[in-house]
Amino acid sequence: MEKTIKSVQDLYDMLDADFRSAKQFWEPFYEDRNRPIPFFPNKPDENLVAHVNAGLLAGGKALELGCGPGRNALYLTRQGYQVDAYDLSETAIAWAKERAAEEQLDVHFECRSVFELAPQQEYDLVYDSGCLHHLLPHQRIPYIEMIHQALKPGGYFGMSCFAPGFGGQGGPESVMDDWQVYQEKSMKGGLAFTEEKLRYLLQDPFECVELRPMKAMGQDENCFGLPILWVTMWRKPGV
Ligand SMILES: C[S@@+](CC[C@H](N)C(=O)[O-])C[C@H]1O[C@@H](n2cnc3c(N)ncnc32)[C@H](O)[C@@H]1O
Repeated sequence: MEKTIKSVQDLYDMLDADFRSAKQFWEPFYEDRNRPIPFFPNKPDENLVAHVNAGLLAGGKALELGCGPGRNALYLTRQGYQVDAYDLSETAIAWAKERAAEEQLDVHFECRSVFELAPQQEYDLVYDSGCLHHLLPHQRIPYIEMIHQALKPGGYFGMSCFAPGFGGQGGPESVMDDWQVYQEKSMKGGLAFTEEKLRYLLQDPFECVELRPMKAMGQDENCFGLPILWVTMWRKPGV
């Protein structure tokens, strides 16, 4: 029935309706591969590399959410993970598949919204580099539930997201609160999180393994790192 709210999904649909669709934004974003976007080069996140090198991430099945052109999924595949990686943008997925083919890597890249996924305790690692901070606050509810369901007990959830001071959200310590997003009908390019907010959102389903600013990495280094981001790793309890 037209515009009737009966379920939580109806409520989410109503909240989504005030915002431009993410697909409209992200589809053209990857058309010009030569743009100086920091995460376009095919280099993995420094924190991911650090956890692999330290032996915390030791292989198995990995799920990457909002994988873009696939730099972290490709890295994890090279490290022996069997990787499923999803993104909203057909253009990004086409680029990721080309990169995999060039290296003869077997990665399952697919153009799908993260909200269409419903994996059940399949993954040893779920990774999100810069996807959650582009989700609307209400979308975090099914997103974090899905990630928790996706992980095997003892599995890891790694993420990077904007820290306070990012972009157009005011001074170095300021972040938009979630209510402001709906009042102003904008996320102003992505949401920044305080450390307290990240812990509040994630500590119930998970145990914190790491939460720190990302290290700065130069253009000539093999990893990606920008200190405007948090990097964080969480573990699903159970083993
Ligand atoms: C900042 S980019 C990061 C891309 C990639 N993770 C990287 O770091 O190279 C965020 C990505 O999230 C994707 N994204 C946003 N909302 C999504 C959704 N609902 N489902 C799947 N992907 C989504 C966008 O298409 C975009 O590629």
